Amino acid sequence: MRILSGIQPSGVLHIGNYLGMMRPAIALQAEGEAFYFIADYHALTSLKDPATLRENGRRAAIDFLACGLDPERAALFRQSDVPQVTELAWILSTIAPMGLLERAHSYKDKIARGMSASAGLFTYPVLMAADILIYDSDIVPVGKDQKQHIEITRDLAVKMNETYGEIFKLPEPRIQAATETVPGVDGQKMSKSYGNTIDIFGDEKAMRKQVMNIVTDSSPVEAAKDPDKSTIFQLYSLFATSEETAAMGEAFRGGGTGYGDFKKQLFAKLWDHFEPMRKHREELLRDKLYLDNVLSRGAQCANEAADKVMARVRAAVGL
Ligand code: ADP
Ligand code: TRP
Repeated sequence: MRILSGIQPSGVLHIGNYLGMMRPAIALQAEGEAFYFIADYHALTSLKDPATLRENGRRAAIDFLACGLDPERAALFRQSDVPQVTELAWILSTIAPMGLLERAHSYKDKIARGMSASAGLFTYPVLMAADILIYDSDIVPVGKDQKQHIEITRDLAVKMNETYGEIFKLPEPRIQAATETVPGVDGQKMSKSYGNTIDIFGDEKAMRKQVMNIVTDSSPVEAAKDPDKSTIFQLYSLFATSEETAAMGEAFRGGGTGYGDFKKQLFAKLWDHFEPMRKHREELLRDKLYLDNVLSRGAQCANEAADKVMARVRAAVGL
């Protein structure tokens, strides 16, 4: 079984990325052949500073490793180390219906947020389909916002298979129900582009500040509070045991505890959760050659897999 996912190096990774994609991907690495990559071609749609792109890519890779990606089990590589994927994206674009791409939410959302409407942004799902299909992927662990992209991938695979014969497998998304949309500090979906994140590897002061910024209603300390309406409680329940979650729920309903105290409990839970990963990250950063070795081994593995599929594709379409 081939498991594949990618993450754009467009900023600092947050606990929405961690719960929605990284942790499930790391859990799946024991179940098959896992391929995880840093989607730097995709990040070019939003990031125009070369040094930042390069630096963010290295940082995302280190953070993924620190969170438990095991390079002995999973290949970790840069998307741009397998340039064949852009050839496949071109071939897929020749059968991709305009209407299918016009219906993509993420393009419309990004334009609405002020990103410039480049052709690359519009055809983003085609490159993502190529990422998935070029490795004969079976399972793609992602957050809910990526679901439509996997549906587009399946549509393009079916269209290719109908046009040229059976070339591609149809991949399945793997979306964790409990963490499909992790809320940010303002209660909206946590996202780099909304400035509402709690970052995984911020320093203590920064993480505390992000947690303290969680928006609450103005209930006084003594009032009973509804845990199900609280982002603090929702985030806490994603990291705490069921007993700890039940205890916080009781404390909300019982009154007598202010939101500031609940935020402190959440901060302590998060800080402890990521403690071993912070240590591991420091070790990884000490060895300057480690990351280059991991990425070059990953790229070799990914290239071998991609070349096999591309030979099949080129023969099938007549190139
Ligand atoms: P962002 O919205 O911060 O730019 P990305 O689009 O780079 O995040 O997402 C990378 C991965 O993390 C994707 O699989 C995405 O579905 C997942 N993800 C991002 N934000 C969340 C969230 N708030 N809840 C669950 N999963 C998320
Ligand atoms: N679009 C994904 C995101 O923004 C990143 C990505 C690119 C990806 N190619 C992929 C994810 C292939 C899964 C599979 O998060």
